[in-house]
Amino acid sequence: MSMQRGQWSSRLGFILAAAGSAVGLGNIWGFPIQTAKNGGAAFVLIYLALTFLICFPVVILEIAIGRRTQKNPVGALDELAPGTPWKSVGMLGVLSGVMILSFYIVIAGWVFGYFLEIATGGLQRLATDGEFSTFVGSAWKNLIYMGLFMIATVAIVVGGIKDGIERWARYLMPTLLIMLFALIVYVLTLDNAGKGIAFYLIPDFSKINIKVINAALSQAFFSLSLGMGALITYGSYVSKQDNIISSGFIVTLFDTFIAFSAGLLIIPAIFTLAPETTAETIPAGPGLLFVFIPKVFMNLVADIGYYPASFLGAFFFLLICFAALTSTISLLEVPTSYVVDQGKTLRKKAAMLVGAAVFFFGLGSMLANGASEFFTQFITYPKGGPPVDFLTFVADIFFETSLPLGGFLLSTFTLFIWKTKNLNEEISQGYPDYPGSLVEKLITTMLHVAPFVIFFIFINTVLAKFFGITLF
Ligand code: PFF
Repeated sequence: MSMQRGQWSSRLGFILAAAGSAVGLGNIWGFPIQTAKNGGAAFVLIYLALTFLICFPVVILEIAIGRRTQKNPVGALDELAPGTPWKSVGMLGVLSGVMILSFYIVIAGWVFGYFLEIATGGLQRLATDGEFSTFVGSAWKNLIYMGLFMIATVAIVVGGIKDGIERWARYLMPTLLIMLFALIVYVLTLDNAGKGIAFYLIPDFSKINIKVINAALSQAFFSLSLGMGALITYGSYVSKQDNIISSGFIVTLFDTFIAFSAGLLIIPAIFTLAPETTAETIPAGPGLLFVFIPKVFMNLVADIGYYPASFLGAFFFLLICFAALTSTISLLEVPTSYVVDQGKTLRKKAAMLVGAAVFFFGLGSMLANGASEFFTQFITYPKGGPPVDFLTFVADIFFETSLPLGGFLLSTFTLFIWKTKNLNEEISQGYPDYPGSLVEKLITTMLHVAPFVIFFIFINTVLAKFFGITLF
């Protein structure tokens, strides 16, 4: 059985693939938006605290559950608590994978489109005000871009664990890192970058409120690919000799580092291009990356010429495509491994089937940015206000809500059903000194706090997001 399921070739293979899953649009596209929307440095601070104190133990328990059972999230929970409703937590994860992927490929399609259009001479046009809205509103173009992205994802998942997912992550992640740094150094040399740095790094504590905390927790879960069993699935391919704690920590650290770096690029870029920006007027829509980054590359034209600047711009968007691809692969892997394990279906058929379903749901999100009135003004929440588009609606349910809920249920499950004793036993394989160590005490303490904190924030998020009720 385990021969058929596959395994990572090495510890590094797992770390790269899990980091590949974690690092994606959530870091480069989502994190800067959330930072801008939620008051800058105060948000960054809360994000860091929640990531390391609350999310990290959930990272560990997901990997441990996966490695213990060598199963997909549904099979895993069914094995650890046979005949109980706990496996529905795994089902929620599988469903979240499908629905998150359905809007994720739309945004990945935009990134891919920007790459193609900049590579073919469109930099100046894409750097023009208003061009982003025109771009996302054109249905046929986006249908092709998201379709190609979906096909690439399915093709790699069909390739399997070692030869598909791991091989890609190995080359693409380091290149992304180098490019990101080169750009940060460039932007920081521009006038007014300091104002952006101040907004990003000097916290204004009066900005901290429950809304900022809600946003930080959802963002941390999404960014770490947490709460839907992606790490259970990836953990199921981890060798018993590996140290789960150190692998999980490296992945958490790396993901946070990339998100932080993306903020360090995009926030100062906004201030260099619009020096009159203030904390109150900073733009914070989905277009942040797509509006400001082409302008940064247009700025370069004066120094190095149009074609070299276009080449660099295209290359940057291409790397974001790769970061997104290593994440879409993991999003598809969760439902695919479920279908393979439960339905005894071949990996190829399973990946294609799930891919087709995702694409179908994705059409709604693709049409939600102006192409169709119905999907653009999809629903009004009970709290009132203007109608929300379909993409935002799916994201509000499956990103903001279902991931923290999954995290709450998984940590509750581990504490009260599977028990920390079994968790510790699994961790000790590959880390024999773990029991009784300081690390064990820290993780066990954090694990006891995590479900309460997550539940509290989850309830507040739901009440505020859909019903407009703020408890605190
Ligand atoms: N972590 C990915 C990102 O930051 O873009 C998104 C993601 C991937 C979420 C895989 C959940 C998941 F299972």
